[in-house]
Amino acid sequence: MALHRLASITIGVPNVEETCRYYAEFGLTRDGACFSTSDGGEQLRIVHSPARRLIELCIGADDPDDLDRVTDRLARLGVTGQRAPASVSAVEIHSGALAVIKVLPRISQAPAAITPYNGPGRAERKNRRAPAVLRDQPIRPRQLGHVVIGTPDAEASQRFFVDGVGFKVSDQVPGVAAFMRCSTDHHNLLIQPSPVAFLHHTSWQVEDVDEVGRGASRMLDGHPERHTWGLGRHFIGSNFFWYLRDPAGNFSEYYSDMDTITDDQLWTPGTWEPSLGALYAWGPDVPPSMLEPDDLADLMATSHQM
Ligand SMILES: [Fe+2]
Repeated sequence: MALHRLASITIGVPNVEETCRYYAEFGLTRDGACFSTSDGGEQLRIVHSPARRLIELCIGADDPDDLDRVTDRLARLGVTGQRAPASVSAVEIHSGALAVIKVLPRISQAPAAITPYNGPGRAERKNRRAPAVLRDQPIRPRQLGHVVIGTPDAEASQRFFVDGVGFKVSDQVPGVAAFMRCSTDHHNLLIQPSPVAFLHHTSWQVEDVDEVGRGASRMLDGHPERHTWGLGRHFIGSNFFWYLRDPAGNFSEYYSDMDTITDDQLWTPGTWEPSLGALYAWGPDVPPSMLEPDDLADLMATSHQM
């Protein structure tokens, strides 16, 4: 069958406890340094690392045949995967991240409640307030959506994940990024060129755009310094977004309404010019920290010590 989900990630940060408190507040369910979403189970682990980075990503596959195919493809790239009965793992050397492909059950998500919207000539919600304004329950991300990293050789890193692991390219901006999927989500992984390996952001699916707004507003209450970029709608992937900054400097994104690709034959991958228009359809101006990390000098200094 195939790869079917981004199951979990492990991130390394210098300040583990402070960062753990942030992700609990973000809406993930905490158990020590491990965090769960409502639909995806345990999807985040936070460990110590001198510099913030992606340590491991675990990808779900349907059956052992998929693992054999991954092992063969990696071998063709000159990478030796460590094969176990239900997994194969290999380090992507430019990011330093360990990719673990495991036989796992597919995720099952209860459908989101249908949000009735009123529009010109189309009243879906008559004689009552919008349910979204009455919500007061805590935000609870449904699943981990994607992870974005920078590596010093983004093309080689992409080859590892596309030609080796088996990700599919949904859209690309040549020289800047390829949006790669291992599920029906438009992208689960994106790798961008950077002088040093680092974790750009993790992204977490919520019910709808109101939950994106509610979640970010709650995180910013008393913590305006967390604000990074939002509310907006991406062009590639189409999702609503709001990015916040965790205490280690990684961005965490609430997203909803991402493009879904259920039939490869019906999706036409696009090749887009590098421009801000490819990045977002609307929203506030892109902050410089989205394009280049504020702590780049620190990341480079720390990487030389590692
Ligand atoms: Fe994102």
